[in-house]
Amino acid sequence: MPIQYDAQGRIFHIQHTVTSMLLSVETLPNGYDTVLFRHFGAPVSPDCLQDEELQRDRWISFDSYHAAYPYALPTAGHGDFRPAQLSVRDKDGINCTLLHYTGYEIYDGKQPLCGLPATYVEQESEAVTLVLLFCDPFTGVTVRSSYTLFEESGAIAVHCSITNNGEYPVTVTKAMSVSITLPGDYDLLHLHGAWARECTVERAPAMHGERVIRSRRGASSHQHNPFAVLLPRGTGEFEGEAFGVSLVYSGSYSITAEQDELDQTRLVAGINEEDFAWPLAVGESFQTPEVVLLYTANGLNDMSQRYHQLYRTHLCRGYWRDRARPVLFNNWEATYFHFNQEKLLTIAKSAAELGAELFVLDDGWFGKRDDDTTSLGDWVEDTAKLPGGLKELSDQIHALGLQFGLWFEPEMISVRSRLYEQHPDWLLCAPNRPMTPSRNQHILDFSRADVQDYMIDTVSDVLRRGGIDYVKWDMNRHFSEIGSAQLSAQQQPGLHHRYILGVYRVMEALTRRHPHVLFEGCSGGGGRLDPGMLFYMPQIWVSDNSDAVARLSIQYGASLVYPPSAMCCHVSAVPNHQVLRVTSLDLRGKVAMSGVLGYQLDPTALSDAERAEIRAQITLYKELRHILSDGTFTRLQSPFEQNVCAWQIVHGDDLLVFAFQTLQIANRLPMKLRLHGLLKGHYQTADHSKTYSSDDLCAHGLVIPFTRPHDQLLGDFSGWMMHCKRVK
Ligand code: DGJ
Repeated sequence: MPIQYDAQGRIFHIQHTVTSMLLSVETLPNGYDTVLFRHFGAPVSPDCLQDEELQRDRWISFDSYHAAYPYALPTAGHGDFRPAQLSVRDKDGINCTLLHYTGYEIYDGKQPLCGLPATYVEQESEAVTLVLLFCDPFTGVTVRSSYTLFEESGAIAVHCSITNNGEYPVTVTKAMSVSITLPGDYDLLHLHGAWARECTVERAPAMHGERVIRSRRGASSHQHNPFAVLLPRGTGEFEGEAFGVSLVYSGSYSITAEQDELDQTRLVAGINEEDFAWPLAVGESFQTPEVVLLYTANGLNDMSQRYHQLYRTHLCRGYWRDRARPVLFNNWEATYFHFNQEKLLTIAKSAAELGAELFVLDDGWFGKRDDDTTSLGDWVEDTAKLPGGLKELSDQIHALGLQFGLWFEPEMISVRSRLYEQHPDWLLCAPNRPMTPSRNQHILDFSRADVQDYMIDTVSDVLRRGGIDYVKWDMNRHFSEIGSAQLSAQQQPGLHHRYILGVYRVMEALTRRHPHVLFEGCSGGGGRLDPGMLFYMPQIWVSDNSDAVARLSIQYGASLVYPPSAMCCHVSAVPNHQVLRVTSLDLRGKVAMSGVLGYQLDPTALSDAERAEIRAQITLYKELRHILSDGTFTRLQSPFEQNVCAWQIVHGDDLLVFAFQTLQIANRLPMKLRLHGLLKGHYQTADHSKTYSSDDLCAHGLVIPFTRPHDQLLGDFSGWMMHCKRVK
């Protein structure tokens, strides 16, 4: 049994071959029972706690045991001065929640969360769950804190739910999903960025005092991905301990780490507590989103691979989860808003000839949308552009042997729209305040059930009418001056969370009603590249930046937690529209096929030679697609540190190695790339020209051709790929 309770020692042991978590029940000097977080890391036995004295009261006045104990569920208001997980104000406004541990449950499997995305099991044997039960005798508030251990990955998914079982209303003012306390000091690694510059890897000491990674934007954001890793100084890609923290949530959030005065590091993660309050009437419950914790002793790659495995198979869902994702052509950078039916058909026809499987019509097909000033909310085709309507275009695309996909931005509204004329109160806004403009659009109040229902029916109707096979779900504005016409003053502070719950409800309904439609997440690129979205949409447009060189860093960073099968990557035209860089089609193809391959250009504007090259890329991709999407992805060299970035993918006996050079450097020794974790044996190149032993590849390294004699140099912005098979 991977979760055990030692009744004598009062210790819970969440146990896996690669990790242990120990939680001990203790009686506090005030008579309460509590649960302490005693160990998270490498596998241990509960005996390791036998000599450990808990820090009791210290003689300097204010630092009681509360300030030292590693509480499993720290609450606010009673002398634990580190970041709390939970804070509840009672009917008199007093914030002092002292939880009394009352019992536990252990069961096989995992219960779904209600209305929130979460990891799941298909068989009960895939996970086991521990629920710790707590109660605050003063307010009657009870808490269920769940820890689910996944058998295959060793990941531990944590969340809690809070119920008002008292006699008076209370207000939850902070409800984080998890708290961990680890001895010692750590670096904190996270992925920061901006629009078109997502997933930059940054690592810095967690420090005394709080270090916070936060989004206040209403979306998980380009700026800070909802993911962090605590890691000792020496940890690298292949060695050392790492503690991953990945929040399954798409709204405003925070992850706070603080090294305390005793040099323990506490980390709490969950809904952003800054603009949050949730009144709980008697009998009501509140559930936090889920956080997935992952410990490794073997470096960041091992952590990432286990996240990839978990998210691919126990977070992504539905018809498309395990299916080969279609190679798509998207018209956005080919035409922007300026297209008509004929132009679209020319692109689609050429795309079909090149081997594409899906044609995606992006922004501009509805209302009177010839630019971004109008029509969001009016999801009816513009017959000036599509005289035969969506259905006719869809039939024509299908007749070319392609699937047909459509862009939506369901959460948004333009003031210049029929929807706004009919429902001005459906806007999120702070009445009588000037509104900060952002891309000429505003946000629909998705906290309202009537707005949610309207959007479910509207989008559903277009999908059915248009015979749509794929949806690109975009979201291009963050929150400012928000308020909901339907919420009370007490409920407004929960608006960020109520909004995202509404978004999830709409996504759940649409993906259920249209189980065969492939949904792709997008938020101006990677503004909502998060596990919450992956629950509804198995692939995400990682960035609006489609420049191959910029993409190396973005995809490398994203791979810390997200599997390549979740990352949509397009080959676009040169000069690149975001950075004006000119790179070869070869490089663009190799970078894009490291994720889910697509194209975002006008194939009719290319030369015959370029079209032939694309045809060959697509053929190769289809041949390798199962390796690329289901294989084990390993980062070998970082674009953040070196001029040559590299990764490998292993699937059964297949091995793919990709290396990319940014700028050519003169006069170098031959460059060797050491591969990693290969099965013992020999690997032969796909053209049978060479055979390498796994030991040589891992210990000595593979010579990569960026250092050839002068006349054979690959030069700046070049890519290289090798496909080998293990031979017996
Ligand atoms: C932002 C997206 O990220 C782009 O790919 C494109 O769909 C535009 N929106 C359309 O407005």
